[in-house]
Amino acid sequence: MTQLLKGKKGIIFGALDEQSIAWKVAERAAEEGATFVLTNAPIAMRMGEINKLAEKCNAQIIPADATSDEDLSKLFTSATEILGGKIDFVLHSIGMSPNVRKARPYTDLNYDFFHKTIDVSAMSLHRVLQAAYKQDALNEWASVVALSYIAAQRTFPDYSDMAEAKAMLESVARSFGFHYGKAKKVRVNTISQSPTWTTAGSGVPGFKEFFNYADSMSPLGNASAIDCANYCLSLFSDYTRMVTMQNLFHDGGFSNMGINAAMVAAQSE
Ligand SMILES: NC(=O)c1ccc[n+]([C@@H]2O[C@H](COP(=O)([O-])OP(=O)(O)OC[C@H]3O[C@@H](n4cnc5c(N)ncnc54)[C@H](O)[C@@H]3O)[C@@H](O)[C@H]2O)c1
Repeated sequence: MTQLLKGKKGIIFGALDEQSIAWKVAERAAEEGATFVLTNAPIAMRMGEINKLAEKCNAQIIPADATSDEDLSKLFTSATEILGGKIDFVLHSIGMSPNVRKARPYTDLNYDFFHKTIDVSAMSLHRVLQAAYKQDALNEWASVVALSYIAAQRTFPDYSDMAEAKAMLESVARSFGFHYGKAKKVRVNTISQSPTWTTAGSGVPGFKEFFNYADSMSPLGNASAIDCANYCLSLFSDYTRMVTMQNLFHDGGFSNMGINAAMVAAQSE
């Protein structure tokens, strides 16, 4: 069996539990021959679930808060030491909005929370890239992937201030993608994923109905976490070397749909 990521070294952010998209990426990356370190916010380690994943994937865990430049700098230093060289792929799978968590209406946002949403969910991508850039920690043709959502382009009211965070995340991928591509041939992309049953996903109000709506609207149905993991691997691989600065929809076709017959029929019921 060929191993798509044989010999590649990576850092995977955001595996919280078995449902996490990052968890699936780690499992699949290990199967495809990659070696990597796992990282998450120190507070997320308390659940202890990540230890099971680390054991399964033969990976070390380095705690890092993605809003701390100090943590991120240490992370890249330790990861290159542990893995014995520069990094070939990074998964940014991080998102959190205190406004969503505390059910603040969009017309009554708390701005301290809003700052936190942006810092954790979007500026963190810039911080990760800047930490890597300053240490020259990534190999040429390395691939950085962050996970986004279509609320960056279109309004999904319950997604609240996460919409602004995702718009910024995608913009950072383009902007840093230019600079890192020019300097080191490093690629930076976002994957805009279908609604997925995870801790972050199901925290959005009305998630179940919305999940079902997107599923029935998309000709292929919603993309699952494992499908997303496989797409991430393709972007980490050498088969996508010329793909950079893109936001790539991975949503079963949802993003190009207007209406379909089933949705029209449902209106006359
Ligand atoms: N689930 C969905 O419906 C969906 C759809 C599209 C995009 N996404 C995106 O996918 C990514 C992964 O989310 P998920 O659905 O797997 O949920 P998840 O809850 O399993 O993952 C979110 C992760 O972010 C981590 N995190 C939060 N604050 C952090 C910090 N300060 N530093 C480091 N890590 C921190 C959490 O510990 C957790 O591991 C997020 O960017 C999310 O917005 C999810």
